[in-house]
Amino acid sequence: MIAVTGSASGIGAAVVSALDGRDVIGVDLRDAEVRADLSTPDGRQQAIDGVLSRCGGVLEGLVLCAGLGPHTPDPMRIIEVNYRGAVSLLDGLFPALCTAAVAVSSSASTMVRWRDNPISRCEEEAALASAGEYRGQLAYAWSKNALTVAVRRRVAEWGAAGVRLNTVAPGAVDTPLLDAGLADPRYGDAIRSYQAPIARHGQSEEVAALIVYLLGPHATYIHGAQFPIDGGSDALMRPTEF
Ligand SMILES: NC(=O)c1ccc[n+]([C@@H]2O[C@H](COP(=O)([O-])OP(=O)(O)OC[C@H]3O[C@@H](n4cnc5c(N)ncnc54)[C@H](O)[C@@H]3O)[C@@H](O)[C@H]2O)c1
Repeated sequence: MIAVTGSASGIGAAVVSALDGRDVIGVDLRDAEVRADLSTPDGRQQAIDGVLSRCGGVLEGLVLCAGLGPHTPDPMRIIEVNYRGAVSLLDGLFPALCTAAVAVSSSASTMVRWRDNPISRCEEEAALASAGEYRGQLAYAWSKNALTVAVRRRVAEWGAAGVRLNTVAPGAVDTPLLDAGLADPRYGDAIRSYQAPIARHGQSEEVAALIVYLLGPHATYIHGAQFPIDGGSDALMRPTEF
């Protein structure tokens, strides 16, 4: 069985479709086998317990898609869901996992260095209090940077256990999350005016195909890696850093 968080919408729903024929345990706020709120410790435990009881303690794969965008009014909630929610499920389900997990990070994960990320010092709440109008974007970048770091830091323990763990880092992908960003007066124009080298948005199905590949039998030596899937934006912005 494969657990997919954020299964009710966007990239998570596309992963469920791409896993056609496999046994999937969806985790989301709504329309899912396990309904749980990953923004709270109780909700995360409910999600872990729900998945474990449905899979009988043996989980073939895990895909972490649940997330909130920069437009979300409460920036601390962005960090709770995107970072703490994802990491809690990684750690809570690791003992049951036997093959691989993929966490959906973001191209935004590279917009801050870990040493400058307030989450690295548990100072995000204070940093957000004085962050101004674009605090949602900051919280988003911090949360995704922290998630990618958390994945990379687990590589030895997970590798020794024979369970692979990778991230994908999408650029702009047509989903309800991106639609909400486009409709936000703070972010809409910036999203509209940026053009990736492949001059269109990505599609959920394209990200889902990469995720399913990373879970599968042709990716058995891929571990601890982050894959940009962004129409070339990472190479455009950071040609000398990789
Ligand atoms: N769409 C993009 O442009 C883009 C770019 C980079 C990264 N991402 C990441 O991809 C992932 C999927 O996003 P999407 O674009 O498909 O968005 P989406 O809004 O379509 O789907 C997100 C899903 O997460 C669920 N979710 C949100 N808060 C939750 C909570 N507290 N508990 C449980 N579930 C919760 C939602 O209900 C929803 O079903 C997110 O982590 C997002 O940050 C998206």
